[in-house]
Amino acid sequence: MPFAKPARLAWRGWAIACVLALPCIAHAVGTLPIIPLPAQASVKQGGYTVTAADAIHVAPGDRAAANAARYLSDLLARTRGLALPVIEDATAARRGGIVIRSDAAASVAQAEGYVLDVDAHGIDIRARDAAGLFYGAVSAWQLLTPDAAKGAVTVPSVHVADWPRFAWRGLMLDSARHFEPPAEVRQLLDAMAQHKLNVFHWHLTDDQGWRLEIRRYPKLTQVGAWRQPPEGGKPYGGYYTQTEVKDIVAYAAARHITVVPEIDMPGHAQAAVAAYPDIGVTGKQPAVSIDWGVNPYLFNVDDHSITFLQNVLDEVMELFPSTFIHVGGDEAIKDQWQASAAVQARMRSLGLKDEKALQSWFIERMGQYLARHGRRLIGWDEILEGGIPPSASVMSWRGTQGAIDAARLGHDVVLSPAPTLYFDNLQSHLDDEPSGRLGVQTLATVYAFEPVSPELTAEQAKHVLGAQANIWAEYLTAPWQIEHAAFPRMDALAEVAWTPADKRHFDGFIARLPAQFARYRQLDIRYADSAFAVGMQARRTGKGVAVTLATQVPGVIIRYTTDGSVPGAGSPVYRGPIDITLPATVSAASFVSDGLPLARVRSQRFDTQTLSSFDGSALRGCPNGDLGVRVPLLPDATAPAPVYNVDVMNSCWTLSQVSLDGVSGIAIDGAWLARNYGLAHDASKVVSRAAHTPAGEFEVHLDGCGGPVIASLALPVEARPGTTYRVAATWAARTGTHDVCVVSTAPINGLLSAINRVSFTASASGER
Ligand code: ACM
Repeated sequence: MPFAKPARLAWRGWAIACVLALPCIAHAVGTLPIIPLPAQASVKQGGYTVTAADAIHVAPGDRAAANAARYLSDLLARTRGLALPVIEDATAARRGGIVIRSDAAASVAQAEGYVLDVDAHGIDIRARDAAGLFYGAVSAWQLLTPDAAKGAVTVPSVHVADWPRFAWRGLMLDSARHFEPPAEVRQLLDAMAQHKLNVFHWHLTDDQGWRLEIRRYPKLTQVGAWRQPPEGGKPYGGYYTQTEVKDIVAYAAARHITVVPEIDMPGHAQAAVAAYPDIGVTGKQPAVSIDWGVNPYLFNVDDHSITFLQNVLDEVMELFPSTFIHVGGDEAIKDQWQASAAVQARMRSLGLKDEKALQSWFIERMGQYLARHGRRLIGWDEILEGGIPPSASVMSWRGTQGAIDAARLGHDVVLSPAPTLYFDNLQSHLDDEPSGRLGVQTLATVYAFEPVSPELTAEQAKHVLGAQANIWAEYLTAPWQIEHAAFPRMDALAEVAWTPADKRHFDGFIARLPAQFARYRQLDIRYADSAFAVGMQARRTGKGVAVTLATQVPGVIIRYTTDGSVPGAGSPVYRGPIDITLPATVSAASFVSDGLPLARVRSQRFDTQTLSSFDGSALRGCPNGDLGVRVPLLPDATAPAPVYNVDVMNSCWTLSQVSLDGVSGIAIDGAWLARNYGLAHDASKVVSRAAHTPAGEFEVHLDGCGGPVIASLALPVEARPGTTYRVAATWAARTGTHDVCVVSTAPINGLLSAINRVSFTASASGER
């Protein structure tokens, strides 16, 4: 039978206390393990213990409640090992136990809101709408999974009254650059629902792939869904059949998620033009692009092309019941329109002054077409250029200015600004981060994002529909990489989009993450522990070597060993630099106070060689470099592969403050990578340097990139991307600590040279 327990006992399993003199990551006692944090919650004395003998009760005929109850039951079985039956019960509202019920008089009136009460008699969830019931069930699941344990669990007495801050709580998945199997899409949707996210923006078409079956135009997928690997070989890709799409849309709807499809136009059209050259501008048939970035292919503006796209939209609207349909509008450089006599004639006959106005006209044609079918157009913020069509809503990605401008003009806006909400950006500088973009966006930077600019008046702010993160997939080629990019930053996003701004608090959020990580492990979600991973830095001291340990999120407990054993709850707590004698292996992990690990163990061997050797965690780009990416050796790698930090615009790397005492040379582990970037007008800005040997060199400069060249390492001639090499050179003895800069002089019309590791070699062997 249920029994009440004092709240302190009920919370013991996951409470986080301050330990010793360490700063404390949070005070979780009294904080509910719910993400996103509810709008209102109060914890009271007592509680209710759910056991395997419990059931989830719903009133007969209350379908919304039954759906929410089944979702809760299923999640509990998968995570807590509690298989609670859902029982239709005429007395549901009056009895104890777990009850979920539709209640038109529920005290939270906001759409999607719910009320959840726990007392000694049970758990009672009620809401005015189906989404509210569902979210109440998700919160109940989180209350019932405060830790990684299985079986019975005591929940403290609480009163939760909760509703979302924003109506648009979105995540975008780029299935165009790389195809994600339907099962992966469903897993992402399931996780979105568990974070109370409700808009899945599906980027289905781009230069590198057309992923949506269109019955009227089969070549869109027969041709457009397959791209060549840049290193050559068999085309790869895939597409979603209409049956699969219907399944995914239904799967999302059952979780209160709307799928907003994106058919990108008039740019990012190369895959479509590869399939049907007559809807392009030049009449030529390109290949599906292998170049990520901005490509020149645009749709034509003639009646044939407009009708083609509207026929596509017909099938899109049949498949996706969403009010909003996304038509892209981004990065449509106008070269092809400018060079085409027919397009220019059309522009003049329409009385339009330039190509931006022509894009505005084009988008408005689509907007009117969608409006005639009861839908609304949304596009990236470029649709503001040339005059925003009156019917359009704007998704701001080039920072937040697009949202500010559009809201001032009275248009609805969604905030999904780069770089903060671009989840293809890496989340730490650690060398074990997989591929992605190098503009690191941490859990903290995502959490700190505020969707409503203070520049907006209260009236203008009403146009802010919400916030969305975007997972671009040029470098996220396998499901585990999508998961790594998404989690746990999705938790931060959820709190940005759901929780009242004045309730958001990063320390409290961090305190709720260990329970979330336990859920992730139980659901086989391969989340990133980057924010809590222990990074190590060694430096020579007068006496020997000192190793500094640190995590990105401060204040966690770090435990370590230096004897090769795995650090556990009994290992020493890190309090300051550790003195080691070379060689030594340091292993470290971060913990909450009761011993629950926050991150998996990282180990590093320190010896004379490794101490003078620098990997991607130390290599930085050069000032003014702006297209930094961390690239896998082979772009279509599906398993963890070596990754290389490069700046596509400037092959230049820096290392700060390297001790060159006793160093007599350098070795660089490098690779030749595919140079598959659509740089459009920026191509002329790629830094080119004079080469002195056929494939160019790595030139090593001392004291910054303008300093003297102290070594020049000729690169091996290689025609194929995906090959690795080591080049080395010696130099006359130097002393002191210096900034070191390495540049590549490889010709910029060939393969891209990349660095994985820079090692400085000692003049004398042996441990120093
Ligand atoms: C975008 O990142 N081109 C929307």
